[in-house]
Amino acid sequence: MKYRIQSTTYRDFDIYEQHKRSPRAYFIPYSNEETLRNTPNARERYDSNLVTPLSGKWDFKYFPDARDLPKEFDASQVKFAQVDVPSTWQRGPGGRVEPPVYLNTRYEFENPPPELPEQVSCGVYRKRFKLDEPMGKTFIISFLGVMASLDLYCNGYHVGYSEGAHNTAEFDLSAIVRAGANELVAVVHKWSTGTFLECQDMFRENGIFRDVLLHTLPKIYLNDFWLRPRKLADGTYRLGATLEVQGEQLSGWSVEVTIDGLDAKYSGPAKERMSFGLDKLEVTEWNAEQPTLYTAWIRLKRGGEVSQVVRVPIGFRNIEIRENLFFFNEKLIKIKGVNHHDTNPKTGYCMTYADYVQDLTLMKSLNVNAIRTSHYPPDPYLLILANEMGFYVIDEADIEAHGCQATHGNYDLISDDKAWIPRYLDRVKRMLFRDRNHVCVTLWSLGNEAGGHHCQDACYAYLHAIHPEVPVHYEGVRRCKYVQGYDVFSEMYTNHARVEMIGKGDPELEEKALATPFIICEYVHAMGQGPGCFEEYWELFYKYDNLMGGCVWEWADHAVYHEDGPYKYTYGGDHGERIHDGNFCVDGLVYPDRTPHTGAYAMKNIYRPVRAAKTDKGIIFTNTNRFANAMYETQWKLLYNGAEIKSGAVKLDIPALGTFEMPLELPKFEAGDYHLSIFYGNDIAFEQLVLQEEYVEEEMQPNGDLNDVLGTLSLNFLRAPLDNDNWMNWVNQEYAPKNLTVCEDGVYAGEDKQFTMALATEELPGGAVKVTAKLTAAEDMLEELQIPRFGVRLVLPNEWSNVKYYGLGERENLPDFKEHAMVGIYETTVDAMHEPYVFPQDNGNHGEVRWLELTDEQGRGLRISNAPGKLSFSAHRYSQENLIAAKHQEDLKDEGAVFLSVDGFMRGSGSSSCGPDTLDEYKLDLAKGLEFSFVIVGV
Ligand code: GAL
Ligand code: MG
Repeated sequence: MKYRIQSTTYRDFDIYEQHKRSPRAYFIPYSNEETLRNTPNARERYDSNLVTPLSGKWDFKYFPDARDLPKEFDASQVKFAQVDVPSTWQRGPGGRVEPPVYLNTRYEFENPPPELPEQVSCGVYRKRFKLDEPMGKTFIISFLGVMASLDLYCNGYHVGYSEGAHNTAEFDLSAIVRAGANELVAVVHKWSTGTFLECQDMFRENGIFRDVLLHTLPKIYLNDFWLRPRKLADGTYRLGATLEVQGEQLSGWSVEVTIDGLDAKYSGPAKERMSFGLDKLEVTEWNAEQPTLYTAWIRLKRGGEVSQVVRVPIGFRNIEIRENLFFFNEKLIKIKGVNHHDTNPKTGYCMTYADYVQDLTLMKSLNVNAIRTSHYPPDPYLLILANEMGFYVIDEADIEAHGCQATHGNYDLISDDKAWIPRYLDRVKRMLFRDRNHVCVTLWSLGNEAGGHHCQDACYAYLHAIHPEVPVHYEGVRRCKYVQGYDVFSEMYTNHARVEMIGKGDPELEEKALATPFIICEYVHAMGQGPGCFEEYWELFYKYDNLMGGCVWEWADHAVYHEDGPYKYTYGGDHGERIHDGNFCVDGLVYPDRTPHTGAYAMKNIYRPVRAAKTDKGIIFTNTNRFANAMYETQWKLLYNGAEIKSGAVKLDIPALGTFEMPLELPKFEAGDYHLSIFYGNDIAFEQLVLQEEYVEEEMQPNGDLNDVLGTLSLNFLRAPLDNDNWMNWVNQEYAPKNLTVCEDGVYAGEDKQFTMALATEELPGGAVKVTAKLTAAEDMLEELQIPRFGVRLVLPNEWSNVKYYGLGERENLPDFKEHAMVGIYETTVDAMHEPYVFPQDNGNHGEVRWLELTDEQGRGLRISNAPGKLSFSAHRYSQENLIAAKHQEDLKDEGAVFLSVDGFMRGSGSSSCGPDTLDEYKLDLAKGLEFSFVIVGV
């Protein structure tokens, strides 16, 4: 078939849509209720006899330059390849036509908005499908996600145009389709004028990346609905309903709404637009802890017969903001959130139902209760699952114009330009209509990092007028001089001191930070090892009622998976990108394949529902839930010097926000350490209370010769940079090992002798060796001088790879990053202590160590102990130099030895890959001088 190609729609600023249907709710009608009742959510989209999924194999032809796409396009003459829909050009499956490009804040090109480069690539997709007699039917085609723009053609005609990649685009094909063979042609441009609003920090991908659905409906059909709960003064709910039935001659047609389990029913004649309500509903309200859902059924009937039926999960909730407090069903909820991007290491933007199930199930197990859909509406699946599983959702519009700032130097360049208002509004409106039936939506977000403010003001006014019951936040407001905050004020990466000021209502602060509830829409940047100082935020969030909590940046590492190397995962710059932002995309709580990082386990305990504290009589447990009882079988173990000496269990059943005091009889303490480890439920969370810590020197009996090993002893004050060491850049600075000068009285760091380090060994009676390391700051040391650690290194035989220690384990930890670790005695191996961050960095450290042993299979090796100040250590098969140089895991080589670091001082991680540095208490105080010692023996 031949097509006259619209060659300019994608770059024409006057056009952002053509013949696109008005926004409406996402739903899948069925003609048979029984079938629908037996269809699980995962299949709903695919199994309806009224909806045909067109996902699957499509013909595909890629044009590196859209100008080469013939104006008269004869599809029958084109040699098409095949691709899978959904998929993206940069990932496949079914063909990769462009390399992946990862960019954070910049646009991919420099042209000022709304201009595009002359060369813009495009892909032509073709799908042929057969229809029976279409007369008397309505055909609506629904694209759930296309990047960046879509010109749709069918049977020789141009149907319409759409942009707004993460919004649904629907077109009515009724007048164009015919009996027998039909042909769809979709021309997708890499960039459009909408691209200026899609500058999110992510791999920039293209293509039809979500499902395509063909609705085949009777001429009279349910087009849209809004079931809208409202709480009445008497505590009951009214479920307001607005329905749209399309088609002429509605006489004889009726609409019925019922709700399973509730004695409520509406039935009345069908009208084009109808509003009614179900009143006095006595319901159990929905919240993320107890996500009580009801199932509403909307039936469109002809005579007594159901023509279409829709299943709508509904929940009842009432959000109110009073002064600067956020009430969800009368409770001040806390957002234990994460930011979720749609990202899959194999398929990029394409997320299946199973992918979302995996993510949300894992989040639940990590005690997360909220998701910000950064930075665009996800596939509706996410919301369906969030309703069911219980997550507060911050649903974010597909708007980010970061490049206005990063590429063009003016954040407000387009957001403050009223000519852009229709485009902004379109995206917000489409999000609202698609998602407004979902009870999980707790906040609307106007987008991310787009500056302000005229366009946002218009969107806010719109949302507020249409849907006032869900409040609006937009972080960018904070940077806009003229704008007051919207309903909830938000910031990102705010440091603890400022959070506390906001909590306290410090009058020094700007009015807009105090006037409304406050949320940190992004905090604790989870890039690489860390984030540190996470728990300290929660101490503040629990302390002040106006602080709603926050969402960790971010859920998953973004990377590209390679089946056959050389690297398993690649990031920005690995694909020949002209401009890119390196490994900044690898910043999640979980690896690309969703294996949790250590940070995810820290979050799990920090977000725990119950918290314990020691009292005179025993232990007091506080339930931090707002709605649900904390009902957990709870085990406790009393440890003396790491060994269990007593244990017990208690069955907690504490009402929301309540406490319970468990009496606990403790033995009379002797010298040494006493810890109480507490385990909630079946892997809900754990924590440990320190009851007493006291250094006791042990008798150390040398057994074996350590001369060779001691010959390798050297000082160390560097670590392979953590992502969160960002601004420190230890390695490149002048204090790198190559700049150390060995002198008679020690080792000087740097030519300017900022500090001196000295290492001494002393043979003790009996043959044990005492190691002492000392760092002395120069009088005129630079105040800003920071080092990440102070310790020693030893190179051990490769066979000494069995590790036993008494300290914080079993997972790696740092002084400000240890909520996932407990003091105990652990046995492991050097290999198991390696943590394979996509971007290699220092890892596997264990703090608060009183003793450790590294031995071979026969039990021969070394023991380190008698460190009055406690130590931290890590052991690897690669040297620190190797780790510093490595850019991917595959660059780490087994060097045939065990490299042991034993440190007296270790700096925290903080969050400074994007947020604040670690707090002062977790930094090394060089000015004071550092000194530590331990004793080493052969065993
Ligand atoms: C934020 C931004 C995110 C991401 C993050 C850094 O400023 O909103 O999209 O770029 O920083 O990882
Ligand atoms: Mg950004």
